[in-house]
Amino acid sequence: MDRRLPKMADWDDVFDETYLRFYGPFLDDERTRVEAEGAIGLADVEPGAEVLDCPCGFARHTAVLAELGYQMTGVDRSAVQLEEARRRLGSADWPRLVRADYRELPFDVASFDAVLNLFTSLGYLERDGDVAVLSEFRRVLRPGAALVIDTMHRDRLARIFQARDGQSHPGGGVILREHELDAVTGTVSNHQLHIPAEGERASRASWCTYIPSPNGWRWRARPVFASR
Ligand SMILES: C[S@@+](CC[C@H](N)C(=O)[O-])C[C@H]1O[C@@H](n2cnc3c(N)ncnc32)[C@H](O)[C@@H]1O
Repeated sequence: MDRRLPKMADWDDVFDETYLRFYGPFLDDERTRVEAEGAIGLADVEPGAEVLDCPCGFARHTAVLAELGYQMTGVDRSAVQLEEARRRLGSADWPRLVRADYRELPFDVASFDAVLNLFTSLGYLERDGDVAVLSEFRRVLRPGAALVIDTMHRDRLARIFQARDGQSHPGGGVILREHELDAVTGTVSNHQLHIPAEGERASRASWCTYIPSPNGWRWRARPVFASR
């Protein structure tokens, strides 16, 4: 296993075809519907509202909420994720899918009635980067509209933490992972080795995520949302 320190930047290598292949089956329709309905309930908006799902990954929540009548926009920076999203959603104009980095959203001020940030999709960019993302969310939200953030938090992670795990895919291939948890700073370093079925290239990915205490995001978001 490669012991080099993970970089915060290489997220496109993490959310590639291997992610879709190994994590996709766990993110099934039933689970996704529960998550999507829970999130939109917290946002407290009615069908017809303009909602940003960011980052949307392969747009599983976007799809459910569009079906329920919300006017959905999904944003992600991974071409691989958006290609899968397009495959699932078809080619209609809505729900809208946009490729962008969430530090710089290509939307006007006050464009949305809610922003959903789901499935531990913040904490990738160190403090300044995360604050830039939160500031963009605030910029594109209409006055008084809700930002819903769903992330793993440190206390739960500490309870279920395993320093090593692995997963084999029924169609072939294995991934092996090592994790290091720094409970004081609330950061987790992850190293992953993918050994594919046969004849394909093995790949590695390393990443580091901020997984703070339950109040951690409140503190990180406070300067951005203080005046609301
Ligand atoms: C854990 S996945 C969750 C995706 C989706 N919310 C879900 O629940 O399936 C995190 C996503 O963040 C995206 N991402 C990472 N860094 C990003 C950035 N700087 N800008 C936009 N999307 C980013 C990845 O491409 C990936 O699709």
